[in-house]
Amino acid sequence: MKAASRTIIAPSLLASNFCRVAEAVERIQDAGADWIHLDIMDGSFVPNITFGKKMVADVASITNLPLDVHLMIEKPEHHIQDFIDAGAAFITLHVEATVHAHRALMLIHEAKIGAGLAIVPSTPVSTLEEILPELDIALVMSVNPGFGGQSFIPFALDKLKRLQELCTRLRASTLISVDGGINAQNAAAVRAAGADILVCGSAFFNAQDPRKEVELLRGATHKTV
Ligand code: DX5
Ligand code: ZN
Repeated sequence: MKAASRTIIAPSLLASNFCRVAEAVERIQDAGADWIHLDIMDGSFVPNITFGKKMVADVASITNLPLDVHLMIEKPEHHIQDFIDAGAAFITLHVEATVHAHRALMLIHEAKIGAGLAIVPSTPVSTLEEILPELDIALVMSVNPGFGGQSFIPFALDKLKRLQELCTRLRASTLISVDGGINAQNAAAVRAAGADILVCGSAFFNAQDPRKEVELLRGATHKTV
């Protein structure tokens, strides 16, 4: 069973100015957010390229916040050790990016850090059923991955609910994460649908008052499972 706890807010550096990453990290810390989300894109699994292990290592050198690394790359198992070495606290890979997701997850577990699997909007929740008890994080993409600033896809809410039901049925303590188009307007709905971790790029970095934005995203009520 999942322990009752407050919602985890993980701002994504993707929406920050890459010439001012240290300031972006400070903004995340000062706002009282919980984790820093880093989107690794390879231009193949997704049609965009971002950054790699050096960025993760450099960010790790200036913060104590847990680094939530989201791999949107083909054959993630070939790169997992790099991101472990760089200082990731959690590594989430896509089930669509490898036939050997289980092997990749074992590599992450061996390093005693958190392991996650993500699904794109067209991948059914049932894909995660067998592997769910092995997961620290199950990430439901609420946009097609590759870019920040896209609109939340409404059917992601149903997927979150079904994932929550699956966790309950399997007695899995997996944290449910949602990523893409999250803002203060839809945060309550995704939390109610079962999300424990809210990844947020544009809404966080565009906010006039980042601390207030984190409070709105987190909400006053805490989930008990
Ligand atoms: C999208 C990334 C997201 C992105 C979210 O492929 O995985 O983490 O940064 O950005 P927003 O919140 O702007 O949709
Ligand atoms: Zn992401």
